[in-house]
Amino acid sequence: MGYPPDTTKTSMERYNSYLRRVNSTKLINTPTSKILIRSLLLTAVIILIFFTVNNPNLSSSSSSTGHHPRSLLSSLVTSDWEKSVRKSSTPQIPTGISVLVTGAAGFVGSHCALALKKRGDGVLGFDNFNSYYDPSLKRSRQNLLLRHEIFTVDADINDSDLLKKIFDLVPFTHVLHLAAQAGVRYAIKNPQSYIHSNIAGFVNLLEIAAKHADPPPAIVWASSSSVYGLNTANPFSELHRTDRPASLYAATKKAGEEIAHTYNHIYGLSLTGLRFFTVYGPWGRPDMAYFSFTKDILNGKTITVFEAPHGQKEIARDFTFIDDVVRGCLGALDTAEKSSGVPGGGKKKGPAQLRVYNLGNTSPVPVSKLVSILEGLLSKKAKKNVVSMPGNGDVPYTHANVSLAHNDFGYKPTTDLTMGLAKFVKWYVGYYDVKIKQVVDIER
Ligand SMILES: *[C@@H]1O[C@H](CO)[C@@H](O)[C@H](O)[C@H]1NC(C)=O
Ligand SMILES: *[C@@H]1O[C@H](CO)[C@@H](O)[C@H](O)[C@H]1NC(C)=O
Repeated sequence: MGYPPDTTKTSMERYNSYLRRVNSTKLINTPTSKILIRSLLLTAVIILIFFTVNNPNLSSSSSSTGHHPRSLLSSLVTSDWEKSVRKSSTPQIPTGISVLVTGAAGFVGSHCALALKKRGDGVLGFDNFNSYYDPSLKRSRQNLLLRHEIFTVDADINDSDLLKKIFDLVPFTHVLHLAAQAGVRYAIKNPQSYIHSNIAGFVNLLEIAAKHADPPPAIVWASSSSVYGLNTANPFSELHRTDRPASLYAATKKAGEEIAHTYNHIYGLSLTGLRFFTVYGPWGRPDMAYFSFTKDILNGKTITVFEAPHGQKEIARDFTFIDDVVRGCLGALDTAEKSSGVPGGGKKKGPAQLRVYNLGNTSPVPVSKLVSILEGLLSKKAKKNVVSMPGNGDVPYTHANVSLAHNDFGYKPTTDLTMGLAKFVKWYVGYYDVKIKQVVDIER
């Protein structure tokens, strides 16, 4: 999340420093000016109290998150804008679905939006372009979408007025909700951003889907493999425990799964959560290890590689290639049943679908192997600083059991890490215009 400077110290602190400044001014020496200043201060205090009482948001919600204090509704919406929204969302084939993709300028979001559009579905993108990582990469993805006639609304999922407007314009059959605050270790630095996006934003979307949208859409959304937390049973199955998250990120994703249950139960929303396992590939996220390792190896910078404490299993991830994940997302959308709720949030007509699936690669790879594959692809040795993994959110090992997704929509990952990283590196050197000795060219 890109956060503007903290506005918590609005009213009171500014007022206090004003007081300090006023008190240190020599001006206060004559009796008349003292009276004048006192009455000015009194007026200021009254105005301040009046203002705070009438705007509770000013002191609480907007200060803790610093996000779009007001809806962008009035500033964005013009008849041209409405036309773009409608056009982008209209399927090109009779059997096509109409999908709102949140986080569309993100890694998984942009790939899914393109895949849906390519097969003839209507797609509207939604993204707040926050600066958690380089927003110019998100803008490039947005441009890529635009070249494929996918329009992306530039706003926050917490903006309910704008979201309502969008559902008024388009009767979306589906929502692919991928907007989220990602990253495991960043949660130590900016915990509120996870609450804002992954909980408050999700609830906002569900509220509108349940109570405002006509028809209520089926929702497929991004949970995370991190919900398995300290689970040690392997490979991770949807039946395993998920009540021991190791990071606030994981905790908010787990909370999302419980919140999904509630909206499914009360309003009959059709909800499918997808637990992604370390998704990587072209147009990926710069905050992820494979991406930053590539950058640092090319720049001759030392990379920090985590190792497990002595005697424990090597640190490994079930790296999952983006194209496999996209097929999983589309499979989940295509098998999602209609919501059973009635528009306006009335009594549901019957039980609705509630699902959770692992989308992994079923083949964990140690981080040391990741580095050696990259060294090979980049024709360059990495400078490594190997440290013991700190206990601040990462789990040592992930491994997906995907038989549920396989049974229900034929999910079957087909790309191994070497092949997938070759495609990533090919994209990376093209996008950033890097010269390397040789690019291993692998045809799709
Ligand atoms: C969400 O957006 C609304 C405007 O649509 C704003 O009033 C509110 O403060 C925001 N809440 C959070 C948690 O950012
Ligand atoms: C994978 O999960 C399914 C249930 O979804 C279970 O029947 C199967 O035994 C699991 N496979 C392994 C290797 O644990």
